[in-house]
Amino acid sequence: MSFNKKVSPIKASESSPRKMDPMITVGIIGCGYWGPNLARNFMSAQNCRVKILCDVQPERLAYMQSLYCDMDIATDYKRLIEDPRIDALVIATPVRYHFEMALEALKAEKHIFIEKPMATSAREARILIDTAQERDLTLMVGHTFIYSSAVRKIKELVTSGELGEIQYIAARRLNLGLFQKDINVTWDLAPHDISIILYVLDKMPDSINCQGKAHVNPDIEDITSLVLNYPNGGIATIQNSWLDPNKVRDMTFVGSKKMLVYNDLEPMEKIKIYDKRVEIPPHYDTFAEFHYAYHYGDMHAPYIKQYEPLKVECQHFIDSITTGQIPVTSGEEGLKVIQILEAASESLRNGGGMVKL
Ligand SMILES: NC(=O)c1ccc[n+]([C@@H]2O[C@H](COP(=O)([O-])OP(=O)(O)OC[C@H]3O[C@@H](n4cnc5c(N)ncnc54)[C@H](O)[C@@H]3O)[C@@H](O)[C@H]2O)c1
Repeated sequence: MSFNKKVSPIKASESSPRKMDPMITVGIIGCGYWGPNLARNFMSAQNCRVKILCDVQPERLAYMQSLYCDMDIATDYKRLIEDPRIDALVIATPVRYHFEMALEALKAEKHIFIEKPMATSAREARILIDTAQERDLTLMVGHTFIYSSAVRKIKELVTSGELGEIQYIAARRLNLGLFQKDINVTWDLAPHDISIILYVLDKMPDSINCQGKAHVNPDIEDITSLVLNYPNGGIATIQNSWLDPNKVRDMTFVGSKKMLVYNDLEPMEKIKIYDKRVEIPPHYDTFAEFHYAYHYGDMHAPYIKQYEPLKVECQHFIDSITTGQIPVTSGEEGLKVIQILEAASESLRNGGGMVKL
């Protein structure tokens, strides 16, 4: 189970331990919708002890204590930052708090797991990366899908050339709500799609277009259409919506040899590979000689072992701290996503015009 970069394998095999005591003590800030999922998975992670949970809302802490009765709680996150027994902090608050909390915590020598999107600007993301590097601390971003077996299988298929050259990718992430108050639907949902595309293709687009509309809150787009333009002519489109009657989570990868559809809502057959393509005749002299050939072959759904991506992600954070290796979803990967989101916001402001990266 390993990724293909100079980064920490998901299960660290060799290690040059950064910390003599392998037990990492963790505090979690933000116990709203997502925080409890992180708490559950960090509690079951090896070499990890969750010591304290923090939320400004006492009722959220009361709920968490009803699940984990012996857990320390706090309403002020500074208590976690000042606690010398805590090695690492997990930040699962709304994005407007990410930068301030993460920076304070890094300056207090804590390793940081920060939810997506990692910050509100590329400038903030860069400061967090530099601060972590200067202090030799782990900074990891919660791009959860990178730890899913389906996405890892797609990466394997694309990298091996089974699909041929990727001509385009179309992603849809739609549902009714949850409306956010501080970010639009692109900043909320697209980090998942963008991080998957960057991981699978292993390259950045060179420009971005984004169009959208705000229907419910006049200042916050609730439907957006984002386009990532690649230098070789490749293109990826991402449609995001909080205003759709159906929950949709799918991505289509069209290659020159085969096509792949990834439906994350399918319980078992999440990936289907279609042996379909259009063949253009190599030589023709007249229009009458020109015929497209449509190739229709089999469809197959490869077996994918199912596990909870968040469980792997949480363990990977702990392992990255103890080995000192760079996590797969490092601060640098988080920054790339933010750069695309910033360009999307600029494009939205100018009516969908192209923004160079
Ligand atoms: N990786 C994923 O798949 C995934 C899924 C959902 C959400 N998220 C991310 O997780 C983060 C939280 O999202 P959510 O949906 O749980 O939001 P939420 O609003 O449901 O929960 C946020 C919690 O943070 C608490 N909070 C706010 N300010 C605080 C402060 N100063 N100190 C302590 N607690 C504070 C709130 O009271 C709330 O309980 C966001 O960055 C979001 O994008 C990631």
